[in-house]
Amino acid sequence: MTQLTDEELIAQWRTQPAPLLGLLHAFHDRDGYLSEEALRTIAKGLRIPLADLFGTVTFYHHFARAAGGLQAPRVCTGPVCSLRGGQELLDALQDQGATAMPCAGRCDEPVPILQGHTVLIAHNHNQLTNQPTDQPTLLPPPNPGHIEECVFREIRQPGRNTLNGYRATGGYEGLTRAVTTMQPPDVVEHIRLSKLAGRGGAGFPTGLKWKAVAEAPGSPKTIVCNADEGEPGCFKDRAILDYDPYAVIEGMTIAAYATGATRGFIYLRYEYPATFKLLEQCIADAYQAGLLGQQILGADFQFDLYVRRGAGAYICGEEGSLLNSLEGKHPFPRNRPPFPVTHGFEDLPTAVNNVETLASVPQIMRRAPEWYHGLGLNGHAGTKLISLSGDIQRPGNYEVPFGLPLKTLLYDWAGGPLPGRSIQAVSMAGLSGGFLAQDALESATIDEPSIRSKGSMLGAAGMIVFDDSRDMVAVAHNAMSFFAHESCGKCFPCRIGTQRLMERLDGVGPTNLDEWLAEVNDLGQTMKAVSACGLGMGAPLVVESLVRYFPERTKMHVERRLK
Ligand SMILES: Cc1cc2nc3c(=O)[nH]c(=O)nc-3n(C[C@H](O)[C@H](O)[C@H](O)COP(=O)(O)O)c2cc1C
Ligand code: SF4
Repeated sequence: MTQLTDEELIAQWRTQPAPLLGLLHAFHDRDGYLSEEALRTIAKGLRIPLADLFGTVTFYHHFARAAGGLQAPRVCTGPVCSLRGGQELLDALQDQGATAMPCAGRCDEPVPILQGHTVLIAHNHNQLTNQPTDQPTLLPPPNPGHIEECVFREIRQPGRNTLNGYRATGGYEGLTRAVTTMQPPDVVEHIRLSKLAGRGGAGFPTGLKWKAVAEAPGSPKTIVCNADEGEPGCFKDRAILDYDPYAVIEGMTIAAYATGATRGFIYLRYEYPATFKLLEQCIADAYQAGLLGQQILGADFQFDLYVRRGAGAYICGEEGSLLNSLEGKHPFPRNRPPFPVTHGFEDLPTAVNNVETLASVPQIMRRAPEWYHGLGLNGHAGTKLISLSGDIQRPGNYEVPFGLPLKTLLYDWAGGPLPGRSIQAVSMAGLSGGFLAQDALESATIDEPSIRSKGSMLGAAGMIVFDDSRDMVAVAHNAMSFFAHESCGKCFPCRIGTQRLMERLDGVGPTNLDEWLAEVNDLGQTMKAVSACGLGMGAPLVVESLVRYFPERTKMHVERRLK
C-alpha cells in the first residue's frame, strides 16, 4: 500500500471533525513514531501552537517520540497483571526496549504486551506469541445465576458483531420503534422511566441527561460514547464492543434521535487495536445499510458517527478531559459547571455516555420501561456488568441484577477463591473505590447504596479479588502508584497528595502510627474536599480501606516491622 505524504495526510484530516487524534495516529502509524518534523507539520496544518501540541502529545503514554518506538513492546504492569508476573516480564524484555503500560483492560487474560498494533502474550517470559486479536477471547460465559440479562442478552449469538447477525437477533428493532412510532421526547421519557443510569461510574440518570441535551440551545449537538475504559480491573466495555458493537452504535443512534444530535464519536482507548478495526468496519456497514448518515430508516433524521482512538491516558475517561482530548486540546478535566449537556464538544450540547449505558438502550427500547427496572432485586433498577479478576476461580464479565449479594457473585457464580486459599479483600470500582474485606464481603449487595454504606463505591464495577497470599500494603501501594502516575497534575492537592500517599505506603514518613494516621487522614480529606475530578476524590479511599480493614498490617508497616 502506498504511503500518504505529509500534505495528503493533512488534507485528509483537516476537514474531519475532531481531527488531531486521528492525524497524530496517522503520522505515528506511518513513521513508527512522532518526529519533531511531523509535529511541526501537524502544528502548521491544524494551526495549533507548536508548544501546545508538544505538551499535549507528550501527555499520552503511547505516542513514541523516538524512531522505532511504536514497535517497542509495552507490558501491562497493572494491579492484576502485577499479581501474575507483569513486572518480571517487563524486566525480561528490557533488551527489546520494553516499557511498562498501566492496566490494558485484559485482566482475565495472560499478561498482554502491545507491540505496534498487535497484542502479544509471552511464553517463558521472553518468547512473544501473536494473540489472535481478530478473534476476541472475552465472550462472557452464560449467566451462571440463570437471571434475565439486558446487555448480554444476545451477545453470545453467533455473528452478533456483523450487521446481518445483529439484525437477525432483534438488532435495530429498538431504533425502528423509536423512529417510526415515537417522537423524540417520548424516547427520552421511555429511557427516564426505565431508570437506566450511567454505567461509567457516576450513575447519573440517562433520561435526565438526554432531556437536558434535547432542551439545551445550540447546534449541532453531539453524542459521545466513552469507550476509554482506563480503570484498572475493568474490561466489560471491550466485551460489548467486540461481541455486540452494533448495540452501542444503535444505542448512540437512538440517543441522537432522542436529543436532536447529528454527530457522534466513539472515543476508544488505544489498547484495543482489534476493536478499533471492527468498529470502523461496523460503522461503514451501517452507513451502507442506511442506518447512519442521512434519512436513517427513511425518516427525516441524520446522524454521522466517527471513531477516535485515545493514546493512553487514564484521565481521558473523565468526560471533560475526554472532550478536551477530542477537541485536540490538552486533556485536563474541565471545571464544572457548565456541564457537557449544555457546553460539551466544541462548547455545544453533548451527551457523554458509557459503552454499557448505550448498549442497554436498544433492549430497553424494544420493551416497556418497567421491564428494565424490574430486572433489579429489592427495588434496585436494572442490571450491572461486573468485571471480575484476580485471585478467583472464574474471572470474567458477569451481568448481575442490582441488589445481588456480593458473596453470591464471588462464590456461587465465579467459583470462589483458588484451591486452598480464602478471599482477603475485593477492590471496588476497579481501584477507585478502595477495597471491601471481612464482614463487608459477607453483607454487601451489589448496588451503590450498599457499597457506599461500607465506605467504598461501586462505580464502573471492576472488582479485583485478593486472596490471603497477598500483602495488602503492597496492593495499596501499587494502586496509589497508579493514581500518582495518572494524576493529570491540573490541581495541586491531587498532584501532590497522590505522591505523598504513595510514599507513605512505601515506608516514607512517620514511624508513629498516630502521626502517620493524622497525616494520611489530612491528605485524604484535603484531596476529597478540593480535587477537581473523581481521580483525586477517589484515590484516598485506597488508604482508608487499608486502615479500616487491615489495622494490624498497617501498624506493622508504619512501625517498619516486617510482615
Ligand atoms: C478519573 C475518571 C476516569 C473515568 N473513566 C471513565 C471511563 O473510562 N469510561 C466511562 O464511561 N466513564 C469514565 N468516567 C466517568 C465519566 O466522567 C462520565 O461520568 C461517564 O462517561 C458518563 O457516562 P454515563 O452517564 O453513561 O456513565 C471517569 C471519571 C473519572 C473521574
Ligand atoms: S483531581 Fe487529579 S486528575 Fe483530577 S483534575 Fe485534579 S490533578 Fe487532574
